[in-house]
Amino acid sequence: MNIIHLSDLHIGKSNNLIKAHRIIEWIIGNQDLHQSNLVVISGDIVDDGETWQFKKARDLINRLREAGYIVLTVPGNHDCGPNGIRENQASKRDFREMISQVAEYPAVIIKSGQAFVLLDSMEAEMEKGELWSAQGYLGLRQLQKLDLLLDELAENPAVENVILVLHHHPFDYLFYHGLRDHADLKGVISRREGRPPRVNALLFGHKHLDHRFNDPEDNKEDLYGIDLIFSSGQTVERGEDGKMALPVIDLENKTIQRYRIS
Ligand SMILES: [Fe+2]
Repeated sequence: MNIIHLSDLHIGKSNNLIKAHRIIEWIIGNQDLHQSNLVVISGDIVDDGETWQFKKARDLINRLREAGYIVLTVPGNHDCGPNGIRENQASKRDFREMISQVAEYPAVIIKSGQAFVLLDSMEAEMEKGELWSAQGYLGLRQLQKLDLLLDELAENPAVENVILVLHHHPFDYLFYHGLRDHADLKGVISRREGRPPRVNALLFGHKHLDHRFNDPEDNKEDLYGIDLIFSSGQTVERGEDGKMALPVIDLENKTIQRYRIS
């Protein structure tokens, strides 16, 4: 199964909406090429958590859904309030009602033997009222539930791969920007000795940096026993060639192909 990984669309900022529609058009028009019917969006879908932005994002995502695509989303800090640093519950509600339709995280969606586990890296950040700028915080409740869930999925013979999606970047250690409980998350998702991987693919965004974490000198995939660890760049950002990069992940072969979109 191939999945398309979008991230950090920041709808509402500059001409990102126009570029995002261009990407959606490309996806719908090129299914023969990418061979996917499932799109993951790893947060910061809008820029300021405003209702008008969510309406634009909903129209965008509906184009994909109406064309038969499954679209899975997780919230980012910018989906929760202005500038991604002043979170409020009204934005959270808009995100749930207009974008995700997910009431509680972790959420599990199983499609064709692939178990997608969605996390909300803003949950504890907002609950505790300790809003530290653009940081994320999964919280103990979510991590404990994730732990149990991964045990259950490991016992399910119908599940081929577990794909974990969150917005915050677990290898971003910048103060005011990283995931506060990244070490706890790594503890939960690491492969246990003598066992198969607990998580086969770990996908996130937030840093606007396209990178697979399998560098020979610092291979996080080997370190944590996860087949594929990938941070999507900001999909609506143009590269040096003036084109946008669209990563498509092959879950069977654990490879990533990037298509360039004008
Ligand atoms: Fe972010």
